[in-house]
Amino acid sequence: MKIGVVGKGGAGKTTVASLLARTLAERGRRVLAVDTDSNPNLGLSLGLDPAETEAVPVVPRSAVVGPRGDLTVAELMGDYAVATPAGVALMSALRVTEAAAGCTCGGHATVRSLLGQALDSEADDTVIDMEAGIEHLSRSGGTLAHADVLVLVMEPSRKAVITARRTITLAAELGIGAWVGLGNKVDGPDQLDALEELCRQHEVPLDAVVPASGELVAADRLGLLLERTSAPDVWQAVEHLADHLRPEPAPVG
Ligand SMILES: Nc1ncnc2c1ncn2[C@@H]1O[C@H](COP(=O)(O)OP(=O)(O)OP(=O)(O)O)[C@@H](O)[C@H]1O
Ligand SMILES: [Mg+2]
Repeated sequence: MKIGVVGKGGAGKTTVASLLARTLAERGRRVLAVDTDSNPNLGLSLGLDPAETEAVPVVPRSAVVGPRGDLTVAELMGDYAVATPAGVALMSALRVTEAAAGCTCGGHATVRSLLGQALDSEADDTVIDMEAGIEHLSRSGGTLAHADVLVLVMEPSRKAVITARRTITLAAELGIGAWVGLGNKVDGPDQLDALEELCRQHEVPLDAVVPASGELVAADRLGLLLERTSAPDVWQAVEHLADHLRPEPAPVG
Protein backbone atom coordinates (compact mmCIF):
# COMPACT_ATOMS: atom_id res chain seq x y z
CA MET A 1 0.00 0.00 0.00
CA LYS A 2 1.14 3.53 -0.71
CA ILE A 3 0.08 5.65 2.23
CA GLY A 4 0.24 9.47 2.08
CA VAL A 5 0.37 11.26 5.45
CA VAL A 6 -1.08 14.74 5.05
CA GLY A 7 -2.43 17.62 7.11
CA LYS A 8 -2.06 21.12 8.38
CA GLY A 9 1.39 22.41 9.43
CA GLY A 10 2.57 21.02 12.73
CA ALA A 11 -0.37 18.62 13.10
CA GLY A 12 2.02 15.70 13.58
CA LYS A 13 2.46 14.25 10.06
CA THR A 14 6.14 13.35 10.48
CA THR A 15 5.57 11.88 13.93
CA VAL A 16 2.61 9.81 12.76
CA ALA A 17 4.40 8.70 9.57
CA SER A 18 7.31 7.40 11.64
CA LEU A 19 5.12 5.60 14.20
CA LEU A 20 2.99 4.07 11.46
CA ALA A 21 6.06 2.97 9.49
CA ARG A 22 7.52 1.35 12.61
CA THR A 23 4.23 -0.39 13.39
CA LEU A 24 3.96 -1.83 9.89
CA ALA A 25 7.61 -2.95 10.00
CA GLU A 26 7.04 -4.62 13.35
CA ARG A 27 4.19 -6.53 11.72
CA GLY A 28 6.74 -8.02 9.36
CA ARG A 29 6.08 -5.75 6.38
CA ARG A 30 8.97 -4.32 4.32
CA VAL A 31 8.43 -0.60 4.72
CA LEU A 32 9.81 2.27 2.67
CA ALA A 33 9.38 5.73 4.21
CA VAL A 34 9.60 8.64 1.79
CA ASP A 35 10.27 12.17 3.00
CA THR A 36 8.84 14.65 0.55
CA ASP A 37 9.19 17.69 2.76
CA SER A 38 11.62 20.33 1.49
CA ASN A 39 12.66 20.62 5.14
CA PRO A 40 13.10 16.87 5.74
CA ASN A 41 12.79 15.67 9.34
CA LEU A 42 11.49 12.15 8.92
CA GLY A 43 14.99 10.70 9.40
CA LEU A 44 15.12 12.24 12.88
CA SER A 45 11.82 10.60 13.80
CA LEU A 46 13.10 7.25 12.50
CA GLY A 47 16.10 7.37 14.83
CA LEU A 48 18.83 8.87 12.64
CA ASP A 49 20.91 11.64 14.18
CA PRO A 50 20.95 15.10 12.55
CA ALA A 51 24.16 14.44 10.57
CA GLU A 52 22.84 11.10 9.30
CA THR A 53 19.56 12.75 8.34
CA GLU A 54 21.39 15.45 6.38
CA ALA A 55 23.43 12.75 4.64
CA VAL A 56 20.42 10.89 3.23
CA PRO A 57 20.85 11.33 -0.54
CA VAL A 58 18.07 13.14 -2.36
CA VAL A 59 16.62 11.09 -5.21
CA PRO A 60 17.26 13.07 -8.39
CA ARG A 61 14.53 13.21 -10.98
CA SER A 62 16.90 11.70 -13.52
CA ALA A 63 16.99 8.52 -11.42
CA VAL A 64 13.27 7.98 -11.85
CA VAL A 65 12.69 9.26 -15.37
CA GLY A 66 15.15 10.45 -17.99
CA PRO A 67 18.73 9.29 -18.52
CA ARG A 68 18.80 6.87 -15.58
CA GLY A 69 15.11 6.07 -15.75
CA ASP A 70 15.86 2.47 -16.59
CA LEU A 71 17.06 1.79 -13.03
CA THR A 72 15.12 -1.05 -11.46
CA VAL A 73 13.38 -0.32 -8.19
CA ALA A 74 15.96 -2.54 -6.46
CA GLU A 75 18.78 -0.44 -7.93
CA LEU A 76 16.99 2.78 -7.02
CA MET A 77 16.60 1.64 -3.42
CA GLY A 78 20.17 0.37 -3.35
CA ASP A 79 21.41 3.80 -4.38
CA TYR A 80 19.08 6.07 -2.42
CA ALA A 81 17.37 4.23 0.46
CA VAL A 82 19.00 4.36 3.88
CA ALA A 83 18.38 1.86 6.69
CA THR A 84 17.14 3.46 9.91
CA PRO A 85 17.10 2.32 13.55
CA ALA A 86 13.30 2.14 13.27
CA GLY A 87 13.66 -0.84 10.93
CA VAL A 88 12.37 0.92 7.84
CA ALA A 89 14.18 2.16 4.75
CA LEU A 90 14.15 5.91 4.19
CA MET A 91 14.30 7.87 0.95
CA SER A 92 14.41 11.62 0.70
CA ALA A 93 12.89 13.17 -2.38
CA LEU A 94 13.27 16.87 -1.68
CA ARG A 95 15.61 19.17 0.14
CA VAL A 96 16.14 22.90 0.01
CA THR A 97 19.78 23.64 0.71
CA GLU A 98 20.10 27.24 -0.41
CA ALA A 99 18.09 30.36 0.15
CA ALA A 100 16.34 31.64 -2.97
CA ALA A 101 17.07 28.37 -4.78
CA GLY A 102 13.76 28.44 -6.61
CA CYS A 103 10.68 26.25 -6.52
CA THR A 104 10.57 22.55 -5.66
CA CYS A 105 8.33 21.44 -8.53
CA GLY A 106 11.04 19.10 -9.87
CA GLY A 107 11.20 17.31 -6.54
CA HIS A 108 7.46 16.89 -6.41
CA ALA A 109 7.48 15.46 -9.92
CA THR A 110 10.17 13.01 -8.74
CA VAL A 111 7.91 11.84 -5.94
CA ARG A 112 5.01 11.36 -8.32
CA SER A 113 7.15 9.33 -10.73
CA LEU A 114 8.66 7.33 -7.88
CA LEU A 115 5.25 6.42 -6.50
CA GLY A 116 4.07 5.53 -10.00
CA GLN A 117 6.67 2.76 -10.08
CA ALA A 118 5.95 -0.79 -9.01
CA LEU A 119 7.67 -0.41 -5.64
CA ASP A 120 5.98 -3.62 -4.52
CA SER A 121 8.99 -5.73 -5.48
CA GLU A 122 11.01 -4.03 -2.74
CA ALA A 123 8.46 -2.66 -0.27
CA ASP A 124 5.15 -3.99 0.97
CA ASP A 125 4.17 -0.56 2.26
CA THR A 126 5.37 2.92 1.35
CA VAL A 127 4.66 5.67 3.88
CA ILE A 128 4.97 9.16 2.42
CA ASP A 129 5.46 12.09 4.80
CA MET A 130 4.13 15.17 3.03
CA GLU A 131 4.83 18.84 3.35
CA ALA A 132 2.14 20.81 5.21
CA GLY A 133 -1.00 21.91 3.45
CA ILE A 134 -2.67 20.79 0.25
CA GLU A 135 -0.46 22.05 -2.54
CA HIS A 136 0.86 18.55 -3.24
CA LEU A 137 -2.67 17.53 -4.21
CA SER A 138 -3.32 20.54 -6.40
CA ARG A 139 -0.02 20.66 -8.33
CA SER A 140 -0.60 19.61 -11.91
CA GLY A 141 -0.68 15.83 -11.83
CA GLY A 142 -0.77 15.79 -8.02
CA THR A 143 2.34 14.63 -6.16
CA LEU A 144 0.26 12.01 -4.39
CA ALA A 145 -1.74 10.87 -7.42
CA HIS A 146 -0.46 7.31 -7.00
CA ALA A 147 -1.25 7.02 -3.29
CA ASP A 148 -3.71 4.28 -2.34
CA VAL A 149 -4.85 5.85 0.91
CA LEU A 150 -4.35 9.14 2.74
CA VAL A 151 -3.99 9.60 6.48
CA LEU A 152 -5.49 12.99 7.33
CA VAL A 153 -3.72 14.13 10.50
CA MET A 154 -5.72 16.64 12.54
CA GLU A 155 -5.01 18.44 15.75
CA PRO A 156 -8.20 19.30 17.62
CA SER A 157 -8.56 22.64 15.84
CA ARG A 158 -11.05 24.01 13.34
CA LYS A 159 -8.34 24.88 10.84
CA ALA A 160 -6.87 21.38 10.96
CA VAL A 161 -10.26 19.83 10.27
CA ILE A 162 -11.03 22.30 7.48
CA THR A 163 -7.65 21.48 5.92
CA ALA A 164 -8.63 17.80 6.05
CA ARG A 165 -11.96 18.62 4.38
CA ARG A 166 -10.22 20.46 1.54
CA THR A 167 -7.79 17.57 1.19
CA ILE A 168 -10.64 15.07 0.80
CA THR A 169 -12.17 17.15 -1.99
CA LEU A 170 -8.88 17.32 -3.89
CA ALA A 171 -8.08 13.66 -3.26
CA ALA A 172 -11.40 12.61 -4.74
CA GLU A 173 -10.67 14.76 -7.81
CA LEU A 174 -7.25 13.11 -8.16
CA GLY A 175 -8.87 9.68 -8.04
CA ILE A 176 -7.40 8.66 -4.67
CA GLY A 177 -10.02 6.25 -3.45
CA ALA A 178 -9.50 6.04 0.27
CA TRP A 179 -8.62 8.12 3.31
CA VAL A 180 -8.76 7.85 7.06
CA GLY A 181 -9.03 10.68 9.60
CA LEU A 182 -6.57 10.67 12.49
CA GLY A 183 -6.92 12.95 15.49
CA ASN A 184 -3.55 13.82 17.05
CA LYS A 185 -2.38 15.69 20.17
CA VAL A 186 -5.83 15.27 21.69
CA ASP A 187 -5.60 16.27 25.32
CA GLY A 188 -8.48 14.85 27.31
CA PRO A 189 -12.18 14.22 26.81
CA ASP A 190 -13.17 17.87 26.17
CA GLN A 191 -10.77 18.13 23.25
CA LEU A 192 -11.96 14.77 21.96
CA ASP A 193 -15.59 15.96 22.08
CA ALA A 194 -14.63 19.17 20.27
CA LEU A 195 -12.73 17.28 17.57
CA GLU A 196 -15.60 14.82 17.07
CA GLU A 197 -18.02 17.72 16.67
CA LEU A 198 -15.74 19.51 14.17
CA CYS A 199 -15.35 16.31 12.14
CA ARG A 200 -19.12 15.81 12.08
CA GLN A 201 -19.69 19.43 10.98
CA HIS A 202 -17.15 19.25 8.17
CA GLU A 203 -17.90 15.65 7.18
CA VAL A 204 -14.42 14.37 7.89
CA PRO A 205 -14.06 10.82 9.27
CA LEU A 206 -12.36 10.31 12.62
CA ASP A 207 -11.04 6.75 12.59
CA ALA A 208 -8.40 6.85 15.32
CA VAL A 209 -7.14 9.33 17.91
CA VAL A 210 -3.58 9.71 19.18
CA PRO A 211 -3.50 11.44 22.58
CA ALA A 212 -1.25 14.35 23.43
CA SER A 213 1.76 12.61 24.91
CA GLY A 214 4.52 13.99 27.10
CA GLU A 215 6.54 10.82 26.39
CA LEU A 216 6.38 11.55 22.67
CA VAL A 217 7.52 15.14 23.19
CA ALA A 218 10.39 13.99 25.40
CA ALA A 219 11.52 11.28 22.95
CA ASP A 220 11.41 13.85 20.13
CA ARG A 221 13.46 16.34 22.16
CA LEU A 222 16.06 13.74 23.11
CA GLY A 223 16.26 12.28 19.58
CA LEU A 224 15.11 8.84 20.77
CA LEU A 225 12.67 6.41 19.25
CA LEU A 226 9.50 6.24 21.32
CA GLU A 227 9.71 3.05 23.39
CA ARG A 228 6.87 0.57 22.94
CA THR A 229 6.37 0.47 26.71
CA SER A 230 6.49 4.20 27.46
CA ALA A 231 3.30 5.41 25.79
CA PRO A 232 0.91 2.45 25.35
CA ASP A 233 -2.03 4.75 24.54
CA VAL A 234 -0.12 6.26 21.60
CA TRP A 235 0.85 2.84 20.24
CA GLN A 236 -2.67 1.54 20.65
CA ALA A 237 -3.98 4.39 18.51
CA VAL A 238 -1.34 3.80 15.83
CA GLU A 239 -2.13 0.07 15.77
CA HIS A 240 -5.78 0.97 15.36
CA LEU A 241 -4.86 3.29 12.48
CA ALA A 242 -2.79 0.56 10.80
CA ASP A 243 -5.74 -1.83 11.08
CA HIS A 244 -7.98 0.69 9.32
CA LEU A 245 -5.79 1.34 6.29
CA ARG A 246 -7.34 -0.16 3.17
CA PRO A 247 -6.80 0.84 -0.43
CA GLU A 248 -10.53 0.92 -1.06
CA PRO A 249 -12.91 3.66 -2.05
CA ALA A 250 -14.08 5.59 0.99
CA PRO A 251 -17.79 5.35 1.66
CA VAL A 252 -19.70 8.22 0.07
CA GLY A 253 -20.77 10.97 2.50
N1 LIG B 1 0.59 13.03 19.91
C1 LIG B 1 1.46 14.01 20.19
N2 LIG B 1 1.59 14.46 21.45
C2 LIG B 1 2.45 15.46 21.76
N3 LIG B 1 3.24 16.07 20.88
C3 LIG B 1 3.16 15.67 19.61
C4 LIG B 1 2.28 14.62 19.18
N4 LIG B 1 2.43 14.46 17.85
C5 LIG B 1 3.36 15.34 17.46
N5 LIG B 1 3.80 16.07 18.50
C6 LIG B 1 4.81 17.15 18.48
O1 LIG B 1 4.34 18.19 17.65
C7 LIG B 1 5.42 18.78 16.95
C8 LIG B 1 5.13 18.75 15.46
O2 LIG B 1 5.11 17.40 15.05
P1 LIG B 1 5.54 16.97 13.59
O3 LIG B 1 6.86 17.51 13.24
O4 LIG B 1 5.33 15.50 13.50
O5 LIG B 1 4.41 17.74 12.74
P2 LIG B 1 4.32 17.93 11.17
O6 LIG B 1 2.87 17.94 10.84
O7 LIG B 1 5.16 16.92 10.49
O8 LIG B 1 4.95 19.39 10.99
P3 LIG B 1 5.34 20.12 9.62
O9 LIG B 1 4.05 20.66 9.07
O10 LIG B 1 6.31 21.17 10.05
O11 LIG B 1 5.95 19.07 8.71
C9 LIG B 1 6.67 18.00 17.33
O12 LIG B 1 7.34 18.70 18.31
C10 LIG B 1 6.13 16.69 17.88
O13 LIG B 1 6.95 16.12 18.88
MG1 LIG C 1 6.67 17.20 9.02
